[in-house]
Amino acid sequence: MVNFPGKGNGYAEYVASPESHLAKTPSSISFNEAAANTLAALTALQVLKSRIKKNDRVLIHAGSGGVGHFAIQIAKAMGAYVISTSSDKNKDLVISLGAEEHIDYISQVFEEVLCDIDFVFDMFNGDILYNSVKVVREGGAIVSIPTGGFSIEIINFAKKQNVNVSNLFVQSNGKDMNTLKEMLENGILKPHVSKTFLFSSMAQAHLQLESGRTIGKVVVTL
Ligand SMILES: NC(=O)c1ccc[n+]([C@@H]2O[C@H](COP(=O)([O-])OP(=O)(O)OC[C@H]3O[C@@H](n4cnc5c(N)ncnc54)[C@H](OP(=O)(O)O)[C@@H]3O)[C@@H](O)[C@H]2O)c1
Repeated sequence: MVNFPGKGNGYAEYVASPESHLAKTPSSISFNEAAANTLAALTALQVLKSRIKKNDRVLIHAGSGGVGHFAIQIAKAMGAYVISTSSDKNKDLVISLGAEEHIDYISQVFEEVLCDIDFVFDMFNGDILYNSVKVVREGGAIVSIPTGGFSIEIINFAKKQNVNVSNLFVQSNGKDMNTLKEMLENGILKPHVSKTFLFSSMAQAHLQLESGRTIGKVVVTL
C-alpha cells in the first residue's frame, strides 16, 4: 500500500517510491480495498492519532465521505464518543461505522444541537468551520483539512472562544501505513468502496468525486 499526497497529480500503472513510505497489503483484503485505504485513511489517522483520547466527544463532519468514513472508525477504535454529520440517506452507514450520534445536516442545524465537543474534524472550512467553533468546549480543538487558509473572522472567533483551529496536510509515512495495515488485519478498519471504474472511465470517476456526494471511496481498476 502506498500513498503519494500532493506529489503525482496523475495516474500510472507503476511508480517508484521510497521504501519508507510503504506497507505490505494485508493478505486478508482485496487489491481494491487496499487501493481505497491510502490517502484518505492516512489523513484520518494523522489528524486523530495524537489529538483525541478515550471518552472525548468528537464531531466528524461528512462521516459518509472518503476521509470521514475512516475517521469515524479510527476515532471509535481510540475510544472516543463519535458524532457525525451526513444527509439522512447515509445515516445507516455512519451509524454502522461506529458513530453514537448522527446529525442530518439538511434537517438539523448541528451548532444548535451540540455543545461541549472536545475535537472537531472539519472537511469544509467556511461557514461549517465557523459554526463548528461554537460547539467546541473552551480549550478544545478543530483540525480542518481543506487547503486554502482560514478567514480572519474564523481566526478571531476561534481566538475569542479559546478554540485551537489548525490545518493538516497528509504526509507519506510508512509507519502510519503499517498502523493502518494492522487496523485492517484486526478488522478495526474497513474501507467502504461504493463504486469501481475502469481506467478508461477515469473522467466519470472524477465527476463522481466532484459531485461532493461520494459514499466512502471510489476505486479505479486497471
Ligand atoms: N489536507 C489533506 O491532506 C487532505 C487529504 C484528503 C482530503 N482532503 C480534503 O478533505 C475534504 C474532504 O474530502 P473527502 O474525499 O472526504 O470528501 P468526499 O468523499 O467528497 O465527501 C463526500 C461526502 O460529504 C458528505 N457531505 C456533503 N455535504 C455535506 C455537509 N454539508 N455536511 C456533512 N456532510 C456532507 C456527503 O454526504 P451526503 O451525500 O449524505 O450529503 C458525502 O458522503 C476535501 O476538501 C479534500 O480535498 C484534504
